[in-house]
Amino acid sequence: MKIIVLNGSPKGDNSGTLQYVNYLAKLHSQHQFEALHVAQRIRRIEQDPAAFAETIEKIRQADAVIWSFPLYYMLVHGHYKRFIELIFERGVQDAFAGKYTAAISTSIHFFDNTAHNYIHGICDDLGMRFVESFSPDMSDLFNLEGRKQLEGFGRRFLAALETGAPTQRKYAPVTWQPWSYQPGPVNSPKDLGGKKTVILYDGEPGQANILSMAQRLRDSLKGEVRFVNLREVDIKAGCQGCIHCGMDNECVFEGKDGYIEFYRSTIMTSDVLIYLGAIHDRYLSARWKTFFDRSFFNTHTPVLRGKHMAFVLSGPFSRQENLHELLQGYAEVMDIQLVGVVSDEVGSPVDLDALLDQLAANITAAALEKSTRPATFLGVGGMKVFRDDIWGRLRAVFQADYRAYRRLGTFKTFPQRQFGVVMLNTFGAPLLRIPPVKRWFQKSMIKNMVMPAKQMVERAGAN
Ligand SMILES: Cc1cc2nc3c(=O)[nH]c(=O)nc-3n(C[C@H](O)[C@H](O)[C@H](O)COP(=O)(O)O)c2cc1C
Repeated sequence: MKIIVLNGSPKGDNSGTLQYVNYLAKLHSQHQFEALHVAQRIRRIEQDPAAFAETIEKIRQADAVIWSFPLYYMLVHGHYKRFIELIFERGVQDAFAGKYTAAISTSIHFFDNTAHNYIHGICDDLGMRFVESFSPDMSDLFNLEGRKQLEGFGRRFLAALETGAPTQRKYAPVTWQPWSYQPGPVNSPKDLGGKKTVILYDGEPGQANILSMAQRLRDSLKGEVRFVNLREVDIKAGCQGCIHCGMDNECVFEGKDGYIEFYRSTIMTSDVLIYLGAIHDRYLSARWKTFFDRSFFNTHTPVLRGKHMAFVLSGPFSRQENLHELLQGYAEVMDIQLVGVVSDEVGSPVDLDALLDQLAANITAAALEKSTRPATFLGVGGMKVFRDDIWGRLRAVFQADYRAYRRLGTFKTFPQRQFGVVMLNTFGAPLLRIPPVKRWFQKSMIKNMVMPAKQMVERAGAN
């Protein structure tokens, strides 16, 4: 059988993920695996119709497709995203429809779930027969259990192809009827009180609602507002995954385009960030994705900590749970306060005016009060993945993060570094093993657990 491997790594043949697929190809040499480096070659594929047609024809002729990709900023690389957009823009979904498919990524398991949800959703949109998502850690190939799991994935995928196994759709289609938003007059702009704000909108052609919403927000805010079209930010290329930035947060593109200067001087110096963009397939545009990928020159350091943020989207946001998780997770891990997400799917100009006005009021109040909210599992869990890996196996490569985490006290959150926890576990835990103490503790557990909280309630309002 002929299997096309859509390689989503900007590193092409040097992709670590691709080695997992090559490993399977070697074990199953009776089948023909061919890798297409669609992320690395995106410029050619996008600009040269013959290159695009050749790529699609290979897919059309194949029996199955494997999506092989590294995790990039909780999703796939911006170039891979662009390739996916081209499939829909150029109407070649039929080359994929009905084909068996599976997805394999490598990562450090930081939001690998959202990337796989995304690819699975795309496969469902393309009418493919999705067999399995496989998400090993980037070092799993080097241990026996990891290789056994990989071999199992390969066997299951090929068996599905050979037996014509039934597959089930997971994501319902998302349809959307665009409409034209004409904003009404703004009555009382909100005073930003000296808080620097950037409104960054993706002014792509054909998305007039984005510009209208951006303008409405600009008119709703009084103070220093920088109004920037993402299409005019000088981004020459996507992140190439070289990790040059790991040592000192210096990117190889420094001085070669305007992105880093823009990010440092506009994004990092603002107090309030308002990002606007249209939903494309099941995420924002590839342009936005490249914007996020390139911000990786700051590696895993939360350089936007304490800022207040909002997203304003055009498209069916309420039916994009994965996108919701991505935006919230992004903000929480960056330690940014996500004040709200508004989308034009509300459908009427009056309602959209009201939502945008409310957003302007909320974000102004939140920034002025410096209000914070607790993170959910997304932020808490995500940060622990980073903390452990930067302290551990990634320290040598990401030395800038290690220095930043030490400065920010991130490693102090290790439980073994907390005096109270150490005392509790050293003395409290053995004490509770003594039978009478254990009996007393178990009997009065419910009352004892809530007692400190009740005492706080009693003291509420005292200071
Ligand atoms: C810019 C950038 C962003 C990344 N984002 C993530 C991420 O969000 N989650 C994750 O688990 N790993 C992330 N990684 C790690 C890569 O996914 C991982 O190293 C992968 O194995 C690289 O595969 P490749 O060699 O096939 O490109 C990122 C790496 C880079 C360079």
